[in-house]
Amino acid sequence: MSHLTIPEFQQYKKQGKKLTVVTAYDALFTRIVEEAGLEVILVGDSLGMVVQGKPNTLSVTMDEMLYHTRMVAQTAKRALVIGDMPFLSYQANLDEAVRNAGRFLQVGAAAVKIEGGMPVIERVEAMTRFGIPVMGHVGMTPQSVNQSGGYRVQGKDRAGAERILQEAKALEAAGVFALVLECVPSSLANTITQELSIPTIGIGAGQGCDGQVLVLYDLLGLFDDFVPKFVKPYAHLKADALQALRRYKEEIECGKFPTDAESYQ
Ligand code: KIV
Repeated sequence: MSHLTIPEFQQYKKQGKKLTVVTAYDALFTRIVEEAGLEVILVGDSLGMVVQGKPNTLSVTMDEMLYHTRMVAQTAKRALVIGDMPFLSYQANLDEAVRNAGRFLQVGAAAVKIEGGMPVIERVEAMTRFGIPVMGHVGMTPQSVNQSGGYRVQGKDRAGAERILQEAKALEAAGVFALVLECVPSSLANTITQELSIPTIGIGAGQGCDGQVLVLYDLLGLFDDFVPKFVKPYAHLKADALQALRRYKEEIECGKFPTDAESYQ
């Protein structure tokens, strides 16, 4: 079975087919995501919050991202795997950015994602020149949470919307194969989607994008520390897990588990 390629991914937009993207961080969920028929996995630095329990994504390291990306990429049979470049892995200088991006490909990712607009244009040009496909990410960019003052909708006023539109166009011209639009008004996401020929992938950006991405644990109802407005829980696995664990404890305490059925005679 062959992996979905970047040109095939881009064809979705031309064919008017919606793209479904989800995050995954380990082999177990990669298998489940693929069994459900999803074809694009982002190994997001959101793992800093949902796996590591940190308040934001800023402390996630290259080694941690490579560890998770390797697990996902080794397991995925069909999905296009995208590795999310963590804070400080591409900002400091161009050489380091290209080298770190290449390390994601060495552990099996097909592409990388980086956050930001004009400051990363040179990075995108260099990475794509050396054969490293890059997904862009504009709007609310979690790695800039200290500058933006929180996880807020971006591009609400005319100047902000114009800035994000210009960033999107510049990123497309620099060579990104797709663009994540996070927490921007639907009208702005629609305009960007119409103006670009590459796919837009929305998260809190409305219906008009070419595809959607959500954090896996959010959509499964596993992570409820903070549930943004744009998340729709399609399952309630935290509630199921709590119920199972409480029953397990009760049954051990009252002698109902294990029975002969779970024991060797
Ligand atoms: O880190 C992440 O999971 C992301 C997506 C939610 C877009 O950047």
